[in-house]
Amino acid sequence: MGNIVYGNIISDEIKENIKNFIEMSVKNGNRQPHLVVIMVGDNQASKVYVSGKNKDCMQVGIKNTTLYYDDISEEDLISKIKELNEDKTVDGILIQLPLPSHINKDHIFNILNPQKDVDGFTPLNVGKLYLGQDTFVPCTPKGIIKILEYIGYYDLSGKKAVVIGRSNIVGKPIAQLLLNKNATVTICHSKTQNIIEQVRQADIVVSAMGNAKLIKKDWLKENSIVIDVGINRDENNKLCGDVDLEDVIDKVKYITPVPKGVGLLTRAMLLENTIIAYKNSINNN
Ligand SMILES: NC(=O)c1ccc[n+]([C@@H]2O[C@H](COP(=O)([O-])OP(=O)(O)OC[C@H]3O[C@@H](n4cnc5c(N)ncnc54)[C@H](OP(=O)(O)O)[C@@H]3O)[C@@H](O)[C@H]2O)c1
Repeated sequence: MGNIVYGNIISDEIKENIKNFIEMSVKNGNRQPHLVVIMVGDNQASKVYVSGKNKDCMQVGIKNTTLYYDDISEEDLISKIKELNEDKTVDGILIQLPLPSHINKDHIFNILNPQKDVDGFTPLNVGKLYLGQDTFVPCTPKGIIKILEYIGYYDLSGKKAVVIGRSNIVGKPIAQLLLNKNATVTICHSKTQNIIEQVRQADIVVSAMGNAKLIKKDWLKENSIVIDVGINRDENNKLCGDVDLEDVIDKVKYITPVPKGVGLLTRAMLLENTIIAYKNSINNN
């Protein structure tokens, strides 16, 4: 029987450490860390994510300002971001995706101050990640690495990892991070042929495709480690991952559940990235 790795065990400890750090910093006369979240439009899923972010910030003592815009032009959004870029009381700026179609997200991330880019989406920070330089690592891939380290996988020399999905926010960056840990990495996507054969060779599978319970036990190698990033609804409208956990549980060594898995780490990593930005800011001002 495989082990289910619940995210809260890891994320609670991270949040506790952050809370203690902030208490100490404020006691020493520093201001609170400050995260600004920008949301444009009326996307219901985004609203849920943004309110989760508010709650997390409150829990650990990060000041959170959420700017909701029903509608805003690209030009006005750019001037708002430029203003926040310069504001010394703002440590992190997060632009909730997706943005409405009249706003080009590349234009937005091109002007966002990379030092406040707590999602790690600006071109400079993306480039640094691929060059192996210190930078803001996007929250979901960073959280996946925390999970692997928690279960004892610091160095992945000799391990084969298969990542399913090639998005800029999950698939590509996690592939790079696994490579940095010496894994031999294959990225699969919707145009990959014989995907099951690829996945069956993997010691570590990271699935970020968004296909409810597609991965069954015949996809997996015995004793593999399975990180399920997908967030989907099953036939009963219940949240589920890309992996059919009940079907595979006897075959895997470790698996993350959905919900209560990677998602909790994603949230904790946003707090961690905000603290990195905060430390840089209070040390430089
Ligand atoms: N837990 C978390 O914190 C968290 C964070 C972010 C995202 N997510 C979830 O993770 C999933 C992926 O998110 P994303 O933003 O990366 O999504 P995305 O941009 O839609 O990318 C999905 C990727 O999966 C590939 N794919 C889709 N169906 C496939 C199939 N049948 N076989 C092989 N590859 C397939 C796509 O291939 P092509 O490139 O060829 O189209 C694409 O590269 C979603 O369910 C999302 O909700 C969870």
